[in-house]
Formats: sequence, C-alpha cells, structure tokens
Amino acid sequence: EDAEKGGYPHYMLKEIMEQPRVLFETYTGLVSSREVEEAAKLIAEAGSVFVTGAGTSFHAGLVFAYYMSRIAGKPVIPFISSEYAVFKNIDHTGSVLIAISQSGETIDTLQALRGFRASGGRVVAVSNVVGSTIPRESDIAVYTRAGPEIGVAATKTFLTQVLTLSMIALATALYSGSLTKSEYREATERLKDAGRAASTGINRSIRQVELLASSLRNKTNIYVLGRGLGVPLSYEAALKIKEVSYLHAEAYPAGESKHGPIALVEKDFPVVFVATPPEAELLEKIQSNVMEMKSRGASTILVGTSSYLELEGVDFAIDVGSFDEILAPYALVPPLQLLAYRLAVVLGRDPDKPRNLAKTVTVE
Ligand code: G6P
Repeated sequence: EDAEKGGYPHYMLKEIMEQPRVLFETYTGLVSSREVEEAAKLIAEAGSVFVTGAGTSFHAGLVFAYYMSRIAGKPVIPFISSEYAVFKNIDHTGSVLIAISQSGETIDTLQALRGFRASGGRVVAVSNVVGSTIPRESDIAVYTRAGPEIGVAATKTFLTQVLTLSMIALATALYSGSLTKSEYREATERLKDAGRAASTGINRSIRQVELLASSLRNKTNIYVLGRGLGVPLSYEAALKIKEVSYLHAEAYPAGESKHGPIALVEKDFPVVFVATPPEAELLEKIQSNVMEMKSRGASTILVGTSSYLELEGVDFAIDVGSFDEILAPYALVPPLQLLAYRLAVVLGRDPDKPRNLAKTVTVE
C-alpha cells in the first residue's frame, strides 16, 4: 500500500498533488472530442437544462451552472440528486440533464437520471469510471481522466469534473452563438493551463496551509464564504473540512451573513473568504463582508487571487496568483483541499478513511 501512495503518507495528499497531471490529461483527452461536441449541441438546443450530482459532484454542477449563465447566456437549474422528486411531475421532453458522478454508481444520481429519461429528457453523464452504470444509462457519456481515486473524500475528480464541464460550457457557448469561433478557441486554449494553475496554487500555499491548520486546530466552527464562482468553491472547501477533520465548517454566499449566520460570530471565530475573479465586480463587496466580520472580532482568512491582497482587515492571506474566471478554480481549490488535509492530520484523523463515510453510496 505504501508503494501505491507514491511516497506520500496518505492517498488524499497524493491525489491532491496529482491534480496538475490529471488536469492536463483530462484536457488533452477532451479537447476537440466528439462527446463534448455532441453534449454541447444537445444542451444548446435544449429547452431547459438541469444539472445534478451528490456531494462534491453537485458542487462541480454549481460551477457548471455559473459558467453556463456567464459564458453561454443559458440558465441551468442545479439540484441535489436525492431531491429529484421536486421535478418529477414535469414533462422533460426537449430538456437535458447533466448527471455528474465520479464513480458512476451513486444511487441517488442514477435514480434522478432514470426519472428524467422516463419523462422524456435526455441525459449527459460526466463520470470518471468508464462503463459504470450512470454513463451507460445516459444518452452521451463524457469521461474525466483523473485515474482511480482511493481517498474517500473526492479531490482530483472534482477539478477534472470542473474542467470537463467548462469545456462543455464553452462549446455550448459556441453553438448558441454567445462566443465567436476565435473567442471559443482562445478560451479553450487557456484551459490547457489548468494543470499549471493547480501547481501554482499548491506551491504558493503549501507552507502557509500548515501554519493555518495549526492555528485552526482548536476551533469548533468555521465559516467559508464566497461570492459568484467563490460560492461553489466555498461549499466544496467546507465539505472537505467536515469530511476529513470533523470540524464544523459551514459555507454560504458572503452576502447572506447579515440574514442570520453573523449572529454566531464573536471574538476569534474563523471566517475563510474564497475570493475569485472578476475582481472588478467583487472586490468592494468582499471588502465590506470582511469588515462586517472583522468588526465582530472574527479572525479573517483569505484564499484568493492576487488582487485581493489589497483588502483591509485580513488576518491571514493565501495569494494563489493572478487568474481569470476560467482558470481560478484550479489555483484556488488545491490550497483549500490541503487545508482540510492538514487539519485532519494535526487533529490525528485518518483523511483517507473518514468515519461514517463511504466512497460510493449505492443505497438510498
Ligand atoms: C460519497 C462520497 C463523496 C462524493 C459523493 C458522490 O458521498 O463520500 O465524496 O462526492 O459520494 O459520489 P459520486 O461518485 O457520485 O461523484
């Protein structure tokens, strides 16, 4: 088993560190692929577009919904797989569901896809396991190339899902006329650097994450806040922290603080801000969210692109470098995964086998 961990103490760390490579492999496997093209055509022509998944895969779906409306100008309805019943009385003829599942076997996602197809809809699966049930039962299957993921908490499969879904969103924008051919080519070409962005994020954060994890080890609650693209990335960071460290981490859109959650904030309450592009739209708003926490004595932590270094009131900052909306997830997510990993390790938990969790849930 030690040999399989490639010299790392845990699979989770090994899999976080593999992201630069598997992102590049996923990119090369999918660029100008027929499945991405077919999926995009189907989505561009669809009446309504839905996206579903469980856990981490659902968060990748939220990133997809974000890109689809920002880049392709097409709204996407995200739902958690186990909640498919909400849409069950709808005729889905002419609609498309994107079903995301690393394993391709999660029962909730499988049932949502079966229900959707039975009511007339078409399904595009995004999975990491060739020939698994979900892609097999779908109209089109698009595969990520993360390689086998052993750690129970998903890491490398998340960013390869985000990359795959970004390629589908860009291709949809091309077919629906939101991007010209050259804009499409330029944006797709940029995704070639997703792996490099992940390396940058890892290299710029690895030391600081250790300091941060030791300073958070005695906390019981952590908020993780973002805006826009930062919202799904915050959900994913909080899920990772919960799964492997058992600390209570809660993510919500930063603008919601005043509608309730800020009631809990007192001296030294840790609040992590996941700060994403476009900075011109978000910097001022995030600045005021930082101040509203700081003025209640919160300990404020920033994981953001370089422009956010100018924020006031930040106690601890991790600057992942300068990236646009297309590349930012690859630089921002690894530091957050590393934080969850380090927290588990300093607290003496086994990050590869969290209590009560299974890698794949095949019972309802
Ligand atoms: C389980 C795992 C999670 C994962 C979820 C969805 O709960 O513990 O890490 O995100 O299933 O898995 P899937 O294989 O459908 O992506």
